[in-house]
Amino acid sequence: MELHIKGGKRLKGQIKLSAAKNSVLPILAACIMTQHTVVLKNCVPLLDVLSMIELLKSLGASILFIDNDIVVNCERVQPLAADAGLTKTIRSSIFILGPLLSRFKEAKVSAPGGCAIGSRPIDLHLKGLEDLGAKISVTDENTLRFDAKEMKGGNVNLAFPSVGATANLMMAAVLSEGSTLINGAAKEPEIEDLANFINCLGGKVFGAGTESVLIEGVRNLDGGEYTPIPDRIAAGTYLCAAVCAGGRVKIDGINAAHIYSLVEILSKTGASFSFKAGKDYLSNSVEMVSRGMTRGVGDVITQPYPGFPTDMQPQLAAALCGGLGQSVVIEKLFENRFGYIEELKKMGANAVCIGDSAVVCGAGRLNGARVAAEDLRGGAALVVAALGANGVSIVEGAGHIDRGYYKIENDLGGLGADIIRRK
Ligand code: EPZ
Repeated sequence: MELHIKGGKRLKGQIKLSAAKNSVLPILAACIMTQHTVVLKNCVPLLDVLSMIELLKSLGASILFIDNDIVVNCERVQPLAADAGLTKTIRSSIFILGPLLSRFKEAKVSAPGGCAIGSRPIDLHLKGLEDLGAKISVTDENTLRFDAKEMKGGNVNLAFPSVGATANLMMAAVLSEGSTLINGAAKEPEIEDLANFINCLGGKVFGAGTESVLIEGVRNLDGGEYTPIPDRIAAGTYLCAAVCAGGRVKIDGINAAHIYSLVEILSKTGASFSFKAGKDYLSNSVEMVSRGMTRGVGDVITQPYPGFPTDMQPQLAAALCGGLGQSVVIEKLFENRFGYIEELKKMGANAVCIGDSAVVCGAGRLNGARVAAEDLRGGAALVVAALGANGVSIVEGAGHIDRGYYKIENDLGGLGADIIRRK
C-alpha cells in the first residue's frame, strides 16, 4: 500500500478529530471488567483498534463496530482464552492484564513483542502487580500466567511514569478489595480519560492526570455510553503538516491543554494560533496560520506529559527538515525512534543522528522521493515532509500509518493536499 503525494500545496480547511487511539485501546480493555454493554462514540476503525477488538473477541467478547460507535459486551469473556498469537503481536494486548485480574483474579498473556521503536519491556507492570499481591509464573515459551486470588489494594511506586503500567495497575485495582494508591503515575490525558470512563461505569478512581492516583475497589461495574477524548497526536500531526507546507488549518474537537507543548514549539517558527473553548471537548477548536517552517526551534526534548510527546517527535522533526534554521530533537523515551531520518535524507534532508539526538539543519524545501514507512509515527513524518516538498513523493508501507490514522489521505485531501492511495 502506497501514498502518492504531490507536495508544495498550502493546506487550507477544517478537520474534525476522532477518538484518541491511545484512549480507545485501554478503554476497550477496561470493558472486560463489566458484564454490561458499553458503547464508545466518535471512534474510527484504526488498525490498532481492530486488532484490540479481535483480541477481545478471542477472549469471548461480543463487539460490533456500527458507524462511529463500538458496541462491546464482555459478559462471556473467559480469562485464559486469549489468542496467544494476538497477545504476542499486538503491543497494546498488555492492557487486558489489569482488567482480567480485576474481574477474574487470573490471566494468561504472552510477553508482548518489541516493535520498531524499541524493546518495550513490561517490568513496571509486573512489579506493580506483584506489589499488590499477584503471583506471576512463566509457562511454555514466554507465556506469563497470573494468579491474583490474593491481590488486594495497596501502595505502588512506579519508578517511571509508564502510561501502560499506570493504566494496567489502575484497572487491576478497580474491582480489587481495598484502596490502591499509585505513586509516580503517568499524567497523560489518556490516563485521565481511562479513569473518567471507569468512573462513568461506577468505578472510583481519583487524581488521574496527576502523579498520585487513588482507586477505591468496588464490587462491580455497570454498562454505559462514553466518548473518549479526541486524538491529540493526530491533531499535532496535521498541525506539523500545515507548518511544513504552509497554510491555514482549523481542527475541531481538541483540548488546547493537550497540545500546548507542541503549540509552544510551532509558535517559534512564526505560526500563529487561536483557540475556541466550547461546552465540551468536541466543541473546542484550534486554528493555526503558518507561512511555512521559517526558522529553527533550538532543542526539543521528548518527555512524559505535559512535556513534549515522543509520539509527536518524528512529525516535528520532518517539518523542521523541510524548513530553515537549526534544531536538535532529543528522544528520551524510546531507544530507536529515528529510523525515519534515513528516509528523509532521500528527500534531501540535512539531518544527522547522534545518540539520542537528531540534529536538523533545515535547508528549505525538500524534494519528492520514494520512501518507506517503518512504524506508525515515522510513517506519518514522511507524509508531513512530502506535503512540504517539491514534486511527487511515494510513501510505501502505508499500513503502518493506518494503525493510528483512519484514511489519512481523506483528512489531508480535505485540506487541499494532492494525495492518493495506491495498492
Ligand atoms: C504508550 O505506550 C503509547 N501507546 C505510546 O504511543 C507512547 O509513545 C507511550 O505511551 C509514551 O507516551 C499506547 O498508549 C497504546 P510507556 P507504552 O509504558 O504504554 C519504558 C503511538 O505511537 N517502560 O509509557 O508502551 C518503555 O520501554 C504509541 O501511539 C519500561 O521500561 O509506553 C519506554 O522507554 C507508540 N518498563 C518508556 O518506559 C515498563 O514496564 C515509556 O513507555 C514499561 C515501560
